[in-house]
Order: sequence, then C-alpha cells, then structure tokens
Amino acid sequence: MNRRTFMLGSAGMSALLIGGAALLRPGDRGSPYSEYFRMLNKELKAYGPMRPVMLIDLDRLDQNIDVVLQSVRRGGKHLRLVEKSLPSPGLLAYIAKRADTRRLMSFHQPFLNHDAQTFPSADILLGKPLPVRSAELFYQRHKGAFDPSKQLQWLLDTPQRLQQYLSLAQGLGTRLRVNIELDVGLHRGGVSDKEQLNQMLTLISANGQHLEFSGFMGYDPFVGMGVPGILGSHQALFEKVMAIYTGHVNYARENFASLWNDGLTLNTAGSPSYRIHEQEHLSSEVSVGTALLKPTHYDLPSLSEHVPAVYIATPVIKSTGPVNFPALDGKSSLFSWWDPNQRATFFIYGGNWMAEPESPKGLQSNELYGRSSNQEMINGSPAVALNVEDQVFLRPTQTEFVLLQFGDLLAVRGGKIVETWPVYDQG
Ligand SMILES: Cc1ncc(COP(=O)(O)O)c(C=O)c1O
Repeated sequence: MNRRTFMLGSAGMSALLIGGAALLRPGDRGSPYSEYFRMLNKELKAYGPMRPVMLIDLDRLDQNIDVVLQSVRRGGKHLRLVEKSLPSPGLLAYIAKRADTRRLMSFHQPFLNHDAQTFPSADILLGKPLPVRSAELFYQRHKGAFDPSKQLQWLLDTPQRLQQYLSLAQGLGTRLRVNIELDVGLHRGGVSDKEQLNQMLTLISANGQHLEFSGFMGYDPFVGMGVPGILGSHQALFEKVMAIYTGHVNYARENFASLWNDGLTLNTAGSPSYRIHEQEHLSSEVSVGTALLKPTHYDLPSLSEHVPAVYIATPVIKSTGPVNFPALDGKSSLFSWWDPNQRATFFIYGGNWMAEPESPKGLQSNELYGRSSNQEMINGSPAVALNVEDQVFLRPTQTEFVLLQFGDLLAVRGGKIVETWPVYDQG
C-alpha cells in the first residue's frame, strides 16, 4: 500500500466512523406542551396546590366508563368495580353513579369497613381470601345499615380456610356468604380440582345455618396481557379459561343442585380481559378497575378504546441548564454535547414514583445522577420550553398504590379543577 492509498483509506475510515456516530447520536425528542397540558399547567399554576398532585380527568374517565358499559351490555353482564384500583370513595361513587352499579370488589379490611359504612347499599365481593382474623376484625368494627349476611361475599380458596370461617360464623352467631375462588389458569391459588370443590360444597351444604354458597370467582388477566403467540393466542387462552370455569360450574350444578340458583355471583375477568368475555354467557359479571384510568402498564391492545385519565402533576422547582454531574463538573458537558436531550435540567418537587414522564414530550429521569423522592432530576432538550413553576406531567404505571401517595385527588373537567376527593386511609 502506498502512502496515498493509506491516507485515502484512513480518511474513508474516519468518515465512516463520524457517519456511524452521527447515526447513533440521539435525536432531539423534546417538544412543548400540547394544548391539553398547556391548559392544565395554567389552571394548576393559578389554583393548584403547587406540590405533587394526582389528577383525574373526568371527561376521559366518562369515555372509559362508557366503553366498559357498552361491552358489559353486549355481554349481558353486570359490572363490579375493583375498589383497590380506584382507591378513593369519591372516585368510586362517581363511577358507580355513571355506571349504575352497586357492586364492588374489595381487597383490604380497612377499605372494606370503610366501604360498608360509606356505601350502605353496596354488594361487596372480596377479591382475595383474607386471613380469618382479618374477617373477624371486619365484624368487630362494622357499624351501620350494611348487612354483611346479605350484602357481603367472602372469597375462600381451601377447605381449611372454609372451616376457619365456619368457626367464625358459629362464634358470631351469623351466616357468612361464601364465594369460591377458582384457579382458571392464573395459578395464584384457588380451587383447582373437583375433590377440593367437593369438600368445600359438602361443608357448605352441611352447615346451612352458618354458610351460604354465593358463587365463583375466576380471575384471568393473562388472557389479555403479554404477546400473543408466545403463550398461545388470547382466544386460545380464553377458551381454556372458560373450559375450566364451565367444568366447575357444571360439577356444582349437578352434584349440589340444592345450592344452585340463578342469583349466584359468577364473577370473572379484570381490566386486561373483560372485553373478550363479551363472547360467553356463563359468567354473570366482570370486574374492572384500572382500565377506567389506564396507567401505562395497561397500554394493551385489548384496551385500545380506553384513554389515559390519570396524571401526576408536579412543579419544576429549579432549572439548571445542561446536565452537570457531581465530581465530573466541567466534563459533564460531554453528555450534553452528545445528547440534545440532556441540555436542559429540571429539579421537580418530589419524584421517584412508579410513573413515566408524559408532558412536555422528551423528558427523562437520570439514572446516572440518581433518582430522588425529594427533588428528582429530569432532563430534556431546550425544546421542552419549561420554566420554573411550570408543571411536569407524568403517567402512573399502575393505579392502586400510586393513587394513595398524593393526598386528595384533583378531579378536572375541561381543563378546570372541579372536585377534590380524599383517598382511602390504609389502615
Ligand atoms: C380477583 C381480581 N379480579 C379483578 C381484578 C382486576 O382489577 P383491575 O381491573 O384493576 O386490573 C383483580 C386485580 O388484581 C383481581 O385480583
């Protein structure tokens, strides 16, 4: 190789490297608020508490309620609201009114006592089997017109637990309504064979004074989650679920005819799977909670008609320019030189929530700097056009725990704050 070809060769290589690097370099992902978030920012700066808050958009919530109602009507079913996923009595009351349902699914003794007092005409099904001591506490603390012997169904999973609840009923001199948890494929416990079911139904029929059979619950979220194809198509999974559910129903109907009646609660589904149950007429109701607010983990094909209706809003406390790391100091400019999305830095009020930045577009937390629950660093490009005291909006990844972290929920409609709703007290 002569000197000239060597020079040309290395020039070509450098050009290739520079070209390659340019391809790898992150593009500017930033853009300012959409009109929707611009209005919310204006409202919150004028009337908000200027601390992290959880917003519920009632226009969007209404849309989600209506989508669920249409499906439930098509399937000829009732709707049960999942209280832990909508953990505010005011929020639940709002949804229950629009959806015209009194059915709640509860998962936590303190919330259950609260529901029984706040919603005296509710029909409540437990969503998990509670330790019998927890059930006993419910009865000790219960006050008001709600009648547990008619309006409450305990969810029980094994003959052993049923025996414990029988002792509780005998001690209290009352009758407990028992709904049996079925394992329809989730493998999170519940009755999975006829022998167990037989033992439970036998115990119930032999103790009619203290136990009443009230139905079945089979929860199947996996039907609407994950990538179809890897675990089987959603349709194939659904058919398996229904084959198991139907098998248990037929067994009970044939072998315990005296326990069977048309008023039983045959509960199924959850947010990811409720739509597919339009196809079957065995179950009497579906449970839905999270889909009404649609946090990010519920961006699922089965919920494509649902819209996000819940956001965290929190003020920017400081705006400090290009990213600047402790110890690296001046050398930090390498990061902002390389990545336009690190040319603006904001410290927000609070942080480190189970949530993803939503607006302005292109914001991201900084793992290298570290997460903070006090004042979290968020970076973006200058195109996000954020100023101190503007709000950063985030979408929670789930609802049940995150909604309890911000004090009262702020309900907004048409970009204006219209109501505040306290959340449940955890205990
Ligand atoms: C028994 C049961 N049913 C239904 C649901 C559905 O809740 P969501 O609609 O909030 O996903 C759950 C959630 O954990 C559950 O455990």
